[in-house]
Amino acid sequence: MSDMMIGTIQPRHERIWRAEQAGDWDFAAYELGNLRGAFGRLGRAHPMEQNTPLPDMIESVTRQPFEDLKVAIDRKDDADFGKAYDELSEACNSCHQALNHRTIVIGRPAGASQSDLLFGKAGR
Ligand code: HEC
Repeated sequence: MSDMMIGTIQPRHERIWRAEQAGDWDFAAYELGNLRGAFGRLGRAHPMEQNTPLPDMIESVTRQPFEDLKVAIDRKDDADFGKAYDELSEACNSCHQALNHRTIVIGRPAGASQSDLLFGKAGR
């Protein structure tokens, strides 16, 4: 579970933010789709976690933030994006708290990205 968090969930959560900060809405939309897919695979790989059906838990905490993020990205609305992104981070944290991992706190990415991905450069 922690490997999937580090390998598939956390980097996509960060990339959605970095892309939006760079004004690369196409990449943000692309990565939002990938993050949803990654949560789907996580739920299938771990159907039960601490006697809790994980797919149901994922669905209940992420459904609304994912919808709101999609709308904000489609509209290219920075303010709504910020709100929806914080909602999603709260969803991450609510599950960490519920599953006895309150030490793991997720928020807006800080500092410079270490990534070699160049946002907003497509087609140049
Ligand atoms: C449905 C529940 C759930 C959701 C939603 C969730 N997580 Fe997690 N996450 C966990 C659990 C459980 C662990 C602890 C896994 C373990 O160590 O066995 C974890 C661990 C982590 C870790 C620590 C991994 C490590 O080894 O250092 C990170 C980082 C993380 N999650 C990021 C996120 C991010 C980012 C989101 C939201 C985009 C998120 N998680 C959403 C359940 C969830």
